[in-house]
Amino acid sequence: MFHTTPKPFPNDFLWGASTSAYQVEGASESHGKGPSIQDLHHPADLSDFSVASDHYHHVEEDVALMKELGLKAYRFSISWSRIFPKGKGEINPEGVAFYHTLIDRLVASGIEPVVTLYHFDLPLALYENGGWSNRETIDAFAQYAKTLFQEYGDKVKYWLTINEQNVMINHPAAMNPGKTPTNKELYQQNHHMLLAGAIATNLCHELVPEGKIGPAPNIIAVYPKTCKPEDVVAADNWEAIRNWLYLDVAVKGVYNPIAWAYMEEKELVPRMEAGDMDLLASAKPDFLGVNYYATATVSAAKNDGHDRAPRNGDQQTMVGEEGVYRAETNDLLETTEFGWQIDSVGLRTTLRRVYDRYHLPILITENGIGARDALEDDGTVHDAYRVDYLRRHFEQARLAFSDGVDLIGYCPWAFMDLVSTHQGYQKRYGFVYIDRQEKDLKTLQRVKKDSFAWYQNVIATNGSRM
Ligand code: BG6
Repeated sequence: MFHTTPKPFPNDFLWGASTSAYQVEGASESHGKGPSIQDLHHPADLSDFSVASDHYHHVEEDVALMKELGLKAYRFSISWSRIFPKGKGEINPEGVAFYHTLIDRLVASGIEPVVTLYHFDLPLALYENGGWSNRETIDAFAQYAKTLFQEYGDKVKYWLTINEQNVMINHPAAMNPGKTPTNKELYQQNHHMLLAGAIATNLCHELVPEGKIGPAPNIIAVYPKTCKPEDVVAADNWEAIRNWLYLDVAVKGVYNPIAWAYMEEKELVPRMEAGDMDLLASAKPDFLGVNYYATATVSAAKNDGHDRAPRNGDQQTMVGEEGVYRAETNDLLETTEFGWQIDSVGLRTTLRRVYDRYHLPILITENGIGARDALEDDGTVHDAYRVDYLRRHFEQARLAFSDGVDLIGYCPWAFMDLVSTHQGYQKRYGFVYIDRQEKDLKTLQRVKKDSFAWYQNVIATNGSRM
C-alpha cells in the first residue's frame, strides 16, 4: 500500500515520553526506599543509581518541563522497593506520597500518567529469597499491584504490567547479580512472571473502573538474511521465541506452539500448577505496549559450534543460538555510534505484525537513539541526529496508522537523560540534558536540547509538521 497522503494522527494521540524509576529517580538508599537488584549492579567505571538524574528531588521542575514540551502522556515506572522496601509487608508512606505528588502534578498539567508496575528493579529482599524462581514472588507482586491500583487508580487510567520481560529472559545478566541461572530456571521465572502479569491485569480490571492495562515487551520484526527458505524458517522461529511467546500468553492465554516446541526440545518447559493455564487465559489486556529500537536479522543455524557469535549481546544485539538461529548483520542499515542498527521502516513492519496478530490498540512505549550528546559552552545541546531518527520513525508510525494499525500513542525513550543499562551517562536518550557525567555529578541542571523544541512543534501540530 502506498499512502500518497498518509492519514493524520488522531486528535487524542498520546504524544508522550518515557523513563523508568531506577534510571532517573536517584534517592536509591534514602526516603525509606529499600534496595533493588539494580542497586547491586555497579560496574566500576559507570554511574551507579544512587543519584541518577535526581528526579526524586526535581519532580516539580521536571513536570514543568514536560508541560512546556506539550506532552500528552508521560510513561514512568514505580519503584517496587520504594513502596514496599522489602518487596512485601510493610509499606513506605514516603514512597507512596512521592508518586502521589508526581501523578498529581502530571494530572494538573494535563498529562496522562502511564504507569509501569515493574521495570527491571526487583526488590533485593525478594531476590535474596529466590526472586522470580520462587512462586512467592508472584504473591508479592499481586500485593504490590493491588496497592498501586487502590492508591492511584482514581488518577491513573493507563497501566503497564512488566517492562521487557523477554529481555529479562533472553539477556539475564543484569537481572541476576551474583547468580547465573540456567535456561531451565529462566523459563520457570518466565512462567511465574506471566502469571504475575495475568493477576495484575485482572486486579486492574477489578479495582480501576476506567483502567486499561497491558504488557510492555521489546518487540521487533525478525528478517531472514536471504530468501532461502531455511533462513525464513529461522526468522520465524526466532520471532516466535523472542516475541510471540510473551504476547501469545499475555493476549491469548496460550503458549505459542513454535516457542513451545523449542522449549520442549531444549527441556525448558516450566513446571506448572493446576489452574495456571486457566489464570493465564482469564487475563485480557486492553492494549499492548511495544518497545522498539531496531529489527533483527538471522539466518538458519548450521549447528557447527559457531551459531552463537563470540560477542556480548544486549537487548538489540543478537548473538544466535546453537542449532536454533544464527545472528546476522543487516548490511543495508546504518548503525548508531553504539552499534544498534537503525530501521525506521522496521517499526512499520513490527507494528503491522503485532496488530495483525492481536488486534489490540498499540502504544509505543519506547523508541529512541542513544548518543554521546555534548553540552556546548553556550549551554546548548545540538542533537540533530535525534531529530532525524525520531522524524523517520514518526513517519513510519504514521504510515502504520494509515495501514490500519490502531496506534494510540508514541512515547520516545526518553524524556530526560538517564542511566543507560550498559553505558551509564555516556549514552544519552533524552529531550532534556542532565548536566552530570559518569562520576562527576556537576550541577544536575536540566538543559533543553534542540530535539526538545522540535518535538514541541511536532506535538503542537499533532504530527503534521515534523
Ligand atoms: C530498553 C529498556 O531495553 O532499552 C530501558 O527498557 C533501556 O530501560 C533502553 O534504557 C535503552 O537501552 P540502553 O541499554 O541503551 O540503556
